[in-house]
Amino acid sequence: MCGIFGYVGQKDAVPILLKGLSRLEYRGYDSAGIAVLDNSAHLIVRKKKGKVKELAASLNQHRNAPHGTIGLGHTRWATHGAPNDSNAHPHLDCSEKIAVIHNGIIENYVELKEALKAEGHQFRSNTDSEVLAHLVEKFYKKTGTVKEALKLAVAKARGSYAVGVIHEDEPGRITATRVDSPLVVGVGKHENFIASDVSAILEHTREAVAIENGEIVVLDGDSYQLSGANGRVVKRAPRHVQWNVEEAEKQGYAHFMLKEIFEQPGIIEGLIQKRLCKTGMRFEELKIKKSRLAQVKNVHIVACGTSYHAGLVGKYILETLTPLTVSVDNSSEFRYRDPKVDRSSLVILISQSGETADTLAALREAKKRGAVVLAIVNVLGSTIEREADGVIYTYAGPEIAVASTKAYTAQLAALYSLAFHLGLEVFPPKNPKRKAELFDLLAEFKKIPGAMSEFLAEYRIDRANWDANCAEYNRRYHKSLERYFKTAPAKRKRAPNAFFMYLGRNINYPSALEGALKLKEIAYISAEGYAAGEMKHGPIALIDENPWVVCIAVDSPTYEKMISNIEEIKARSGLITAIVTKGNEAVKKLGLYLYIEVPKTSELFSPLVIALPLQLIAYHVAKEFKEEIDQPRNLAKSVTVE
Ligand code: AGP
Repeated sequence: MCGIFGYVGQKDAVPILLKGLSRLEYRGYDSAGIAVLDNSAHLIVRKKKGKVKELAASLNQHRNAPHGTIGLGHTRWATHGAPNDSNAHPHLDCSEKIAVIHNGIIENYVELKEALKAEGHQFRSNTDSEVLAHLVEKFYKKTGTVKEALKLAVAKARGSYAVGVIHEDEPGRITATRVDSPLVVGVGKHENFIASDVSAILEHTREAVAIENGEIVVLDGDSYQLSGANGRVVKRAPRHVQWNVEEAEKQGYAHFMLKEIFEQPGIIEGLIQKRLCKTGMRFEELKIKKSRLAQVKNVHIVACGTSYHAGLVGKYILETLTPLTVSVDNSSEFRYRDPKVDRSSLVILISQSGETADTLAALREAKKRGAVVLAIVNVLGSTIEREADGVIYTYAGPEIAVASTKAYTAQLAALYSLAFHLGLEVFPPKNPKRKAELFDLLAEFKKIPGAMSEFLAEYRIDRANWDANCAEYNRRYHKSLERYFKTAPAKRKRAPNAFFMYLGRNINYPSALEGALKLKEIAYISAEGYAAGEMKHGPIALIDENPWVVCIAVDSPTYEKMISNIEEIKARSGLITAIVTKGNEAVKKLGLYLYIEVPKTSELFSPLVIALPLQLIAYHVAKEFKEEIDQPRNLAKSVTVE
């Protein structure tokens, strides 16, 4: 979904641009590029297929880094045009005096490109973005300022964009705008920045201004001027960002993913402490009045990917702790099915980035239908937060690994907290016994971070075994592959299937889906999550000695049913890993491949603890198969296109 970054100040721009881009790489890493106005105000572009570190290495090797104090940078997630050098950003106009970086999609680029070509513009790439460079060139000739030219250029474009522009004829100035793609301005001392996300500017400044749809910002080293779509000056003071730069570093961990897994107990603990009050759970930031929430008759949770899985768990949580009925939708489907959403509905959008295009579209649809709209987001100041009626922050800090871990459990914690708030304060139970039950559960919720820490402490001790078990799986799989290829082609049966199946029941059915998604994302091995009861309705056909079957068999009312499923898989030679409650000796007698013990909790809170081994299975398998854990292929952290 691309990361954009710009610097204007007094320092050498290139190292700052490269560092900023490396912080934004989670957004895309097919190619990277920079454009710098050098000390004689000449525009110099360096761009390359591959990651930011490859661009940096090439600048080093060729000793051709430009020197100047203003520049733009881009890291790409390809939408239009293959990932190669010429499609990498920045893109130039015909005169090579204007450089443009773009995040988003210009939907009508074909017609714009044809029209520009007919006017004599020469294109060098297959991207949609390049039309913006030529449009700015065309309108600059008419208006004489980049700001006015950019305004006219984006008026011609349909789609989503965050765009940054520099021009040789306006040295010392960056002009930028956005519609439906994120853009912030970082305000420093004698230096200013533009970026797709605050994590890229944290080491320079923690003062940031979010740019609203349609606004144009012009910045030099000492000031920024904002104007609205109507041309009027907009005064907006910077907001202080709570995150700090240490949170965006690996701090000695081999991967961001591992660091983020380990951060989880602390994050959940912090969230609980922040919100706990005598009467239940309170949110400073919620903004929606209790009286408005009390009118709610039904809840709809809408999200994508991992956030959607959090939403699925959220259905169980809210239906257990409140009298409300809950439906859950993928954001990309929500608005196509005429959802029965009106003034009596609470629509909860869950999004780590707060920028996911489908979730944003769902939010707008829900608002149109009169629902009260609540966002659960991690990135402060994001578009989804700004457009929602109210917000609950997950306070997970910057999540850098593309595969979400800490944001997921923080979303779960937010959902538990919201459910306690609704269940105890908005819809207080009339029956005192029920009220006491809810307070007992709340008391247990407080202990969950402790259970998570306990699991991670034991994992630390046992870590070598996790590696050994994954190596053993790898060995077994490769042995069956060898056997297969040694067999004469005419005699070969099915090729061995490296496949992971995750089975869970009730509130841990979504945990199974999330476990499978984590593995797919970073280990590139097919994996599916199923409600264990569904296994006999099809997936059991996949079972032989090859697939690795992860069964969530913690203490719960459905435990015995899960054990029956385990027996059924065992009877078909399945390779089973059971996630069980610590102290369960009975299951150990079943002679399975692996047991992972988690501390005892009630079933309601078990998804928080179970998330940890599921994340770690994916992590260790990906490590064993030597995959790039933090930046999996084809993915981007923030999906700002539909
Ligand atoms: C999670 O590991 C994924 N990378 C992805 O599924 C993600 O959860 C999804 O794209 C939604 O993103 P959001 O939470 O920022 O809206």
